[in-house]
Amino acid sequence: MLRTKDLSPLIGSELTIDADTLLTGIHAAEIRELLVKRGVLLIRGLDLSDDQLRTFTATIGKIREGAIKEENGMLKVRHIPGAQFWHIDGAYTDIPPFATVLTSRTLARQGGETEFANTYAAFEDLPPEEQEQLSRLEVLHSMKSAMNNAIPEPTLEQFKSWMGHQGVRPLVWQHRSGRRSLVVGATASYVLGMNSVDSHEMLQRLLNHVTQPKFTYRHHWQLGDVVVWDNTGTMHRARPFDLESGRTMHRFAVEGTEPMTAVPLTRAA
Ligand SMILES: [Fe+2]
Repeated sequence: MLRTKDLSPLIGSELTIDADTLLTGIHAAEIRELLVKRGVLLIRGLDLSDDQLRTFTATIGKIREGAIKEENGMLKVRHIPGAQFWHIDGAYTDIPPFATVLTSRTLARQGGETEFANTYAAFEDLPPEEQEQLSRLEVLHSMKSAMNNAIPEPTLEQFKSWMGHQGVRPLVWQHRSGRRSLVVGATASYVLGMNSVDSHEMLQRLLNHVTQPKFTYRHHWQLGDVVVWDNTGTMHRARPFDLESGRTMHRFAVEGTEPMTAVPLTRAA
């Protein structure tokens, strides 16, 4: 039995389901559909083991592997530099992860919430003329842009490693479903073909637009919570917390299946 309740009008749903039913995967198609529709799903009090978390993740899609320090696809998240700034995971990769599954293992005494913003809803809220204008633009996304927030004065080695991760993406992602979403956040470096001042102004204005309270959900963690988000239709960030608190989250990511595709030129022209 699966019951759902909206957490806010434009983003987030809480699911009520017992662990045994969840792990059978019989509701997987419904959960995937709801995930894309609502951006973020929360299940309280599940208290899944790491193996159970892996089993649940595999019902959503193919578990993504290959990040540094992972254990069979699972990352023990303590501190990721730059994670406190709004971002889409892997925006500089060709096919970003589809979803992330996160559970709390040790809570911060204070802070450490995770926030999400609905990039579909934010795009759909813009006037039609602006939607079409933005759909013609491309942005360079880079790890350098994201990491510079946390490490403003990197070593040359750090800088060079960041520069290995970058790519040009459309400002507006045309999804296979027909819906469109904004692709902004800390990885966005500049708009191609635009002068620096106008480019920064546009990216900042759009970031502020997407992260308005009406498009966002802030999750206050309790032990045993499982949160899943659609990385292709939301941005996220961790709120600050005391690193000495031992806050630890266990995370699995699901492989993406859709490259960030631009709106066809005939439509955007
Ligand atoms: Fe992230």
